[in-house]
Amino acid sequence: MTWIGKENRARLEPRILLEDPEKSYHAKQRVMDDDQFDNRLIFGDNLLALKALEQEFSGKIKCIFIDPPYNTGSAFEHYDDGVEHSLWLSLMRDRLELLRSLLRSDGSIWISIDDNEQAYLRVLMDEVFGRSNFVASVIWQKIFSPNSTARHLSSNHDYVMVFAKDINLWQRNLLPRTEGSNENYGNPDNDPRGNWTSSDLSARNFYSAGSYSVKSPSGRVIEGPPKGRYWTISKDKFLEYDRDNRIWWGAKGSNQPRLKRFLSEVRDGIVPQTIWLHSDVGNTQEAKKEVMAAVPADTEVFQTPKPERLLKRILEIASNPDDWVLDSFGGSGTTGAVAHKMGRRWIMVELGEHCHTHIIPRLKKVVDGVDTGGITEAVGWKGGGGFRFYRLAPSLLEKDKWGQWVISKEFNPAMLAEAACKLEGFTYAPSETLYWQHGHSTERGRPDLAKKAAIEQDALIAAANREEMDRVKFQQDTLKSAASTTSKAELAAMSLEQKAAMARLTDDYRNRMADINEKLANARISASDAAIAQKSLALKLQEDLLALRTISGSVFNR
Ligand SMILES: C[S@@+](CC[C@H](N)C(=O)[O-])C[C@H]1O[C@@H](n2cnc3c(N)ncnc32)[C@H](O)[C@@H]1O
Repeated sequence: MTWIGKENRARLEPRILLEDPEKSYHAKQRVMDDDQFDNRLIFGDNLLALKALEQEFSGKIKCIFIDPPYNTGSAFEHYDDGVEHSLWLSLMRDRLELLRSLLRSDGSIWISIDDNEQAYLRVLMDEVFGRSNFVASVIWQKIFSPNSTARHLSSNHDYVMVFAKDINLWQRNLLPRTEGSNENYGNPDNDPRGNWTSSDLSARNFYSAGSYSVKSPSGRVIEGPPKGRYWTISKDKFLEYDRDNRIWWGAKGSNQPRLKRFLSEVRDGIVPQTIWLHSDVGNTQEAKKEVMAAVPADTEVFQTPKPERLLKRILEIASNPDDWVLDSFGGSGTTGAVAHKMGRRWIMVELGEHCHTHIIPRLKKVVDGVDTGGITEAVGWKGGGGFRFYRLAPSLLEKDKWGQWVISKEFNPAMLAEAACKLEGFTYAPSETLYWQHGHSTERGRPDLAKKAAIEQDALIAAANREEMDRVKFQQDTLKSAASTTSKAELAAMSLEQKAAMARLTDDYRNRMADINEKLANARISASDAAIAQKSLALKLQEDLLALRTISGSVFNR
C-alpha cells in the first residue's frame, strides 16, 4: 500500500520521562501480596512517549490494546477525529512500528477500529506485523438498538483487529466457562459420569479408516457414514467407545451414532469466538455510565469509551496476572482500570486534558477500592497498588537567541545526565558512592543491534518457511491432480507415501533450522562483540558527560 507522504519519517529524540510525585498515587497500605505499584500514566504525545519507553520496555509488553481515533471526521469534545487519510496512515504507521518493538515475542496487539479505516489498517498491519501474524478480526456489537436517523444502514458494530508479534509463539488463553456454556449439557441416559453433550462422529475430510458399517443397540445396521463423509475414528476405537457407553444412539437406540462428551472431561475453558455480543462484553452506553460513575459529578461526558467487560475479555485471552499491558490512546482510562483490577501491570499514554479530569480520578478510585462499577464485582476487586504519573521532558536542545543549538535551560544536571545516558543507549542509574558512575548498559540497551539481529532472524525463518510451503504445496498439487484419475485405495497409498515424504521434509526442515540456529549463535557472538564495543562507548560517555558538564556549567549560570 502506498500513500502521500509514506516516505517521510520523523526523527525522534528519545526523551526522558519526568515523574510528578504530586500526581502519582498509591494505596496507603498493601491489600494483597501481589499489589502492583509501578504502573505508569504518561501525559503527552504517544509517539514521543513510546520512543521514551523503548529502551526500558523493548520486548516486555505482553498485550497492547489501542483504540485510536477512527478518523470519522467528527470533532469530539475531548479530541478531533478527522485528519487526511494519508496523514492518518503515517501517524498510525509510526506508532505501530514502535508498539511492535515494545511487544514481547509471545505478545499480541488488539486494535479497535470501525469501517472508516478498517480495511486500510488491516493492510498497514500486514506491512508492519507481517501478514502471517494476523490472528482474527473480532466483531464487537457496540450498540444494540437501531439508529432510526441513519442515512443508509444503522451500523452497530466495531472491529477489534488482532495480530500476534509472532504467530508461532503467541498462545491464547481459553475463556472461563459460564453457566450459559454448560446449558447444553444434560444426562438423558443417567450416565454415572454426569452431564454430557454429543458431537457428530462423521466429517467431510477424507479418512482412510473412516468407512465401515456399524450396528445400533436396536439391531439396525448402518452401512457407513452419511454420503460424502467419513467416520472420524477407526472401527476399533468405535467399538471400544461403544463398550464404554460413550456412543449415543438416540433415546430408542437406533439413530446415527454420536460421540458423548462429558462436562467433567472437557477442557477447562471455552475457545474464544470472533463475534462478541453486547450482552457478553458491554456496549458504548454501558461504557459511558462506567466512566461517569468513576469521575467527579460535574465532569464532561467522555464520548468514546470502551466498556470494561470488553477489555476484560481481551486481557483474559491475551495476558496473565503480572504481565505488562499497554494502551497508548488512554482516553478515559478503561484499559488501565481493567488491567489494574485484573492484577496486570499497565502503562497508559494520553495527550488530552482528560488525562487529568478523567483518568487520574478514575484510577484513584480503583486504587482506593471505591469504584464499584465495571468489572469490580466480577473479578472481586478490593483496591490496592498504585501508579506513577509522568510527563515528557522537553527536547534536550533548543535554539538560543543567536540561532545556535544549546542545551535547554529546563535541564538540571541530573536530567542532563539521564538524557545523555538515554541518547547513548545506557540505563540511567547514578551511583551514590562513585561520582562518575551514572548508569549501566546491557545488550538490551542497544535496541538498534537487537532490531538488526531480529530482522536477520525473521528473514532467515521466513525464507525457510517459504521453501517449506512451496514443497508441501507441490506435494498436495500432485495428490490433487492424481485424485481425479486414481482409485480410493491407490489414493490412500499415495497419502501414506506423502506422509513419508513429509517426514523426510520435516527432517530436512529441522536440519535447515539447525543451520539457522548456528547462524543465530554466530549473530549472538557478534552481539557480544557489540557489548565490548559498548564498553568502549561507556568510556566515551564519561568523556561526553564531562564535556556536557562544562557546557551545562555555562548554561546553568545563564
Ligand atoms: C477513542 S479514544 C480512546 C478511548 C479509550 N479506549 C477509553 O476506553 O476511554 C482515543 C484517545 O486517543 C487520544 N489520542 C489521540 N492522539 C493521541 C496522541 N498522539 N497521543 C496520545 N493520545 C492520543 C485522544 O485524546 C483520545 O482520548
